[in-house]
Amino acid sequence: MAKTTLKIEPVPAAERKPKPQDETSLGFGRIYSDHMFSAEWSEPKGWHNARVSKYGPIAMAPAALVLHYGQTVFEGLKAYRAAGGDINLFRPDKNIERLNNSARRLDMPPLEPELVSAAFEALLELDHEWVPRSQGASLYIRPTMIATEPYIGLKSSSTFLFFIITGPVGAYYPEGFNPVRIRVEERYSRAGPGGLGSVKTAANYAASLLAEKEAKKKGFTQVLWLDAAHRKYVEEVGSMNILFKIGERVITPPLGGTILPGVTRDSVIQLLKSWDVPVEERQLSIAEVIEAHAAGTLEEVFGCGTAAVIAPVGMLDYQGQGYQVREGKTGPLAQRLFDELIGIQYGRLPDRFRWLVRLQPGQKNASTPTVRTLAV
Ligand code: COI
Repeated sequence: MAKTTLKIEPVPAAERKPKPQDETSLGFGRIYSDHMFSAEWSEPKGWHNARVSKYGPIAMAPAALVLHYGQTVFEGLKAYRAAGGDINLFRPDKNIERLNNSARRLDMPPLEPELVSAAFEALLELDHEWVPRSQGASLYIRPTMIATEPYIGLKSSSTFLFFIITGPVGAYYPEGFNPVRIRVEERYSRAGPGGLGSVKTAANYAASLLAEKEAKKKGFTQVLWLDAAHRKYVEEVGSMNILFKIGERVITPPLGGTILPGVTRDSVIQLLKSWDVPVEERQLSIAEVIEAHAAGTLEEVFGCGTAAVIAPVGMLDYQGQGYQVREGKTGPLAQRLFDELIGIQYGRLPDRFRWLVRLQPGQKNASTPTVRTLAV
């Protein structure tokens, strides 16, 4: 069986970009490291031409199918700097699994998990200096697959490009870990039954842009989506999953196909169960949330996601009325989850669920071009 080779083409030292000096003002998603990974797919070769090379523009035909019909999937995960200098990847296996589930739904070719893992390792080996050293900052990793065949008719592409870019990031929301204001969206829908809601694909995010712009104009950070069929049940925020603490119980919408199966969501549920906090994955109507608020039992609302980690919600707006949660302050459960998650991610707390993949970069000579043969 032919083995995949991975070409490593380090950017010469003189051409490397300056790294941000101030890690407290990184923002999110605007700075990119020196290298990127890419691989191509076509029949009968499958995935080939895997390489790590200089971060730069992608040449593509204007007729490339991704540009017209959105055949694309992506992922988001983070690498964290531990105290001793090691780099921790948080549950990369879950992202690779979801990437392949997304690819299958979009009729795109899945990737060998070993190839993606090797790509992460090679990128972090070369760009380890880009992983921030401050608490609250990390290196965001964005794997993406796009349809590249030039064709104006509607069909699945016969060629694909998979690439991974990375960049140092700080907090996703301008609020940082301070509570955000969320508007319950009543006019637009994000995803319907049988659609793409559980898939990390551009269409879901494109569908959310106008609603988010309108919400932002009114002073809200994001919108909370209701189910498209009934406009009754809460679903997700678009950039994160959502959880409600009502009395002693934490309730979060189930993975019914219309919400994203978040890696942080799964981690939060595991943590809550390990602390004997009752968790229910069930449909929750917005009416039940409002009733709980009126009864004084809506104790906490918070979102969770890779980019946002844990985002407490201080205010929910529904039908033009504002409902303050915990007087707009962060609740103890959201705080505990945030502390535990980032404690594990930065290697300060025991990795009791074996979520981390630990890398020790800087071991290999990162300035010489090499070719690695992978076991796939
Ligand atoms: C993530 O949380 O990693 C995402 O992909 C959400 C995106 C809106 C930044």
